Amino acid sequence: MKVDVFSLKKQYEDIKDEVKRPIEKVMLSGGFILGEDVGLFEQEFSDYCGVEYGVGVNSGTDALFLACLACGIGKGDEVITMPYTYIATALGISMTGASPVFVDIDEKTYNIDPSKIEKTITKKTKAILPVHLYGHPADMDPIMEIAKKHKLKVIEDCAQAHGALYKNKKVGNFGDASCFSFYPTKNLGAFGDGGMVLTGSQEIKERALLFRDYGRRGRYEHVLKGYNSRLDTLQAAILRVKLRHLDRWNDARRKNAELYTKLFNEKKADMVLPYEANYARHVYHLYAVRVKNRKGIMEDLAEKGVRTLIHYPIPIHMQEAYKDLGYKKGDFPISEKCCEEILTLPMYPELPEEDIRYVVDSLTDLL
Ligand SMILES: Cc1ncc(COP(=O)(O)O)c(C=O)c1O
Repeated sequence: MKVDVFSLKKQYEDIKDEVKRPIEKVMLSGGFILGEDVGLFEQEFSDYCGVEYGVGVNSGTDALFLACLACGIGKGDEVITMPYTYIATALGISMTGASPVFVDIDEKTYNIDPSKIEKTITKKTKAILPVHLYGHPADMDPIMEIAKKHKLKVIEDCAQAHGALYKNKKVGNFGDASCFSFYPTKNLGAFGDGGMVLTGSQEIKERALLFRDYGRRGRYEHVLKGYNSRLDTLQAAILRVKLRHLDRWNDARRKNAELYTKLFNEKKADMVLPYEANYARHVYHLYAVRVKNRKGIMEDLAEKGVRTLIHYPIPIHMQEAYKDLGYKKGDFPISEKCCEEILTLPMYPELPEEDIRYVVDSLTDLL
């Protein structure tokens, strides 16, 4: 038996006929850059999330970068986030010239621990950037309270959490701006790179629109030094089709997660399973468990045909790229411990039930 950690093939087969015509329409129109589908997808995705404006950009990393710029963040500023996330979260901050400042995570949700934020705030702090990691929303109420008290902006990293709910409201609704990735394996993924900034602020939207398109107002009139970071029309056309399936796919991910959890519990497996806080509707971008002796387990699982991954093996404060920040081992013990134990099991909407049963049997045999 062979079980892949994710597969995009079945999803493509599912929507193959539906995407053909929109793709051809873009091809025939020739409007590859900022064509009609970009504006339509911006409207449809922001409506789906319940946020007023959407600005399509060329990746989730650029969504973070441009959202930070649009919020006025730049050189010398500090932005508080967590070290237990994909490096892109920190890169989006660094690209503006600002510095990420890390706060450890909550051991159950793997999201920023709000009780540790306030003591890291300095005169240079401009924003808090929570990540809804693995598809589980960060605890937004205390984060918003701290931000309000200290007059900080909040920028949400929603790259892994399209459609996740915090207290029955979609993520992306809470901050001054929120950032999505449409990387192919994400819950809503394009056939290439893509991203979006959502915001309820007209000013932030206007600035993000300028930054993504050379800072231009007219064709050859440039009001600031911008970038070239636009969502391709082709990707927008594909994403419009895929958005119609997102809730169904998220439901399927939840069903798969429920089965994993039920089977592991039945077997009294000695490992840490994903947690869903009572304020959360998790969308299981990843189903990540924690085990001791991860290396041996991964190798033995691979031998049994089960592919697994590690999200993430090295916390950002221990990455060579960020050694200039001066952090050291031991600074964020929970993040460091989770990096040593975390293991991502196969998860995608179409994952067959028999594969889940096989993964559970194979893994529990190794514990
Ligand atoms: C938490 C997080 N933030 C940001 C990104 C960056 O998105 P992208 O790969 O589209 O640049 C990703 C995905 O890779 C991510 O997982």
